[in-house]
Amino acid sequence: MSENNYKSDAQPCNYETNSEELPPTGYRHVQPVAEHLEEIQNKGYSTYEVFSDWVDMQLYSLQANEKGYSEVIDKYSDEDINTFAQAFGELQFSMNQIQTEAIGDLYELLGMSSDDLGQHFTPHTVAKSMAQMQLSSLNTKKKDSVRIADPASGSGRFLIWSARIIQDTKNVEGVFFAQDKDSLCAKMSALNFVLFGLNGDVYHADTLTNEVFAGWRINSDDENAPRITEIPESGLPESHIE
Ligand SMILES: C[S@@+](CC[C@H](N)C(=O)[O-])C[C@H]1O[C@@H](n2cnc3c(N)ncnc32)[C@H](O)[C@@H]1O
Repeated sequence: MSENNYKSDAQPCNYETNSEELPPTGYRHVQPVAEHLEEIQNKGYSTYEVFSDWVDMQLYSLQANEKGYSEVIDKYSDEDINTFAQAFGELQFSMNQIQTEAIGDLYELLGMSSDDLGQHFTPHTVAKSMAQMQLSSLNTKKKDSVRIADPASGSGRFLIWSARIIQDTKNVEGVFFAQDKDSLCAKMSALNFVLFGLNGDVYHADTLTNEVFAGWRINSDDENAPRITEIPESGLPESHIE
């Protein structure tokens, strides 16, 4: 691996604002991403291992955390690392194609949803309508800031759709909070916050018991600072979403 590979070249998804087109259904757009990840699985890794390592690599890159990144990639060959990078390129292509988040679709396509945790993400069409209904009464006359939380965020798509409405609304600024009991889902939400330019916090936390295990602060506005910072254990709230 080249020494600089840990630096992420992730760019915010370049979606068109005010798009009235219906979001996609099905999984065809993420098939090329899955094929790249399968190339690595075929060398003897489980689907979960490859997918979760790939998400970790992206998060460590965005935090400029070289040590964390190196630990994750240690077991992979240079060829595998290139394939991971190609998979990420395909993910960015598919998000630009469908104009919304796609990592949740990939998670479902790879069969990683847990029935026990009810991990079947809201279809994009429904998530978009929910966000529109929720935010239909935004007062745009005076400058305002809204806080929006999803206490069982999955890949964070409800917040991604909400952010799009807010980003299209003059005078309104959004701060977003996601949390999920599943660590991988929390990480997918954090990655999507960066890819779609959201500011706020993401927690790996149990919303029913109020236990908080880990957290990330996402600052999408300052291009000179890491876009994600891991919240130290001492800074984690006792309970976040009331
Ligand atoms: C049906 S999915 C919905 C995801 C997302 N809100 C959406 O609209 O696509 C439910 C999510 O709740 C999470 N979950 C289940 N029990 C939870 C708990 N006690 N605390 C936090 N998250 C939980 C699951 O891991 C799963 O990601």
